Amino acid sequence: MKIILKSAILSLALTVLPVTGFAASDGSLYLKYCSDCHGKDGLGARAPALKKEGLLRTVGLDYFINSITLGRPTRGCPAHGGTIPDEEIKEIAVYIKGWQKEATLEAPERDVTPGRTAKGEDLFTLCGGCHGLEGEGAMGPPLLDPGFLASISDTDLRRTIMWGRPGTPMKGYLQGMGGLATLTEEEIDEIISYIRYRESKQ
Ligand code: HEC
Ligand code: HEC
Repeated sequence: MKIILKSAILSLALTVLPVTGFAASDGSLYLKYCSDCHGKDGLGARAPALKKEGLLRTVGLDYFINSITLGRPTRGCPAHGGTIPDEEIKEIAVYIKGWQKEATLEAPERDVTPGRTAKGEDLFTLCGGCHGLEGEGAMGPPLLDPGFLASISDTDLRRTIMWGRPGTPMKGYLQGMGGLATLTEEEIDEIISYIRYRESKQ
């Protein structure tokens, strides 16, 4: 599973084109493939809403391309890679990203080295109350879901932890944000390293 996800990501990375250069989508592909579950207007139905500023402002286009391709196989979102052509997957992702009204929140763009430190593991327990102590999901979504982790970049994880998901109980942890705890950028990266370490052990 892990290897398949990784190689799918790798081949995607080689084919992803910049957002510009796509014809504006009329949303027909979204309606065809996604609306039954995510709602006609993206506001949610059987599955969670996708038209949410908190989500749209904290993840890039690739998150949607990867999520559509890989799905959340154990959580009811089908993997569409191989069944929908790559071009159409991109078109759907661009359509969804087009719902965003405010700017994407800023975060340093870099990857972490996966690793387990006592501090990273300790900081991860801050998330347990809402995401489950094993990251299995509770009131908040599962943090260690393989489809999710294979879809999100370290930068988008950092963005989400720094600023939270505005408009939801997921508050930003960056110092001065007034969340449940205040963390430095370095501490946030330790959590991401630990999450990637756990991912590598799945
Ligand atoms: C059969 C129902 C179903 C279909 C069809 C479906 N999804 Fe999903 N999707 C889900 C469910 C259920 C989840 C929540 C998974 C979880 O809780 O981890 C989800 C999660 C997602 C997420 C993650 C949302 C987040 O908050 O991070 C994205 C992005 C997504 N779907 C995009 C799509 C797109 C785009 C399509 C169409 C190509 C699609 N899905 C089709 C059921 C579906
Ligand atoms: C008070 C509850 C709460 C706490 C504490 C919390 N979260 Fe969240 N988190 C949420 C909720 C609720 C969401 C879903 C937000 C949404 O609807 O988009 C979320 C979403 C996320 C997401 C996006 C997941 C996805 O599938 O799209 C990430 C990543 C995340 N949280 C990381 C963390 C980390 C790391 C910590 C600990 C440092 C943490 N959260 C602490 C409630 C919480």
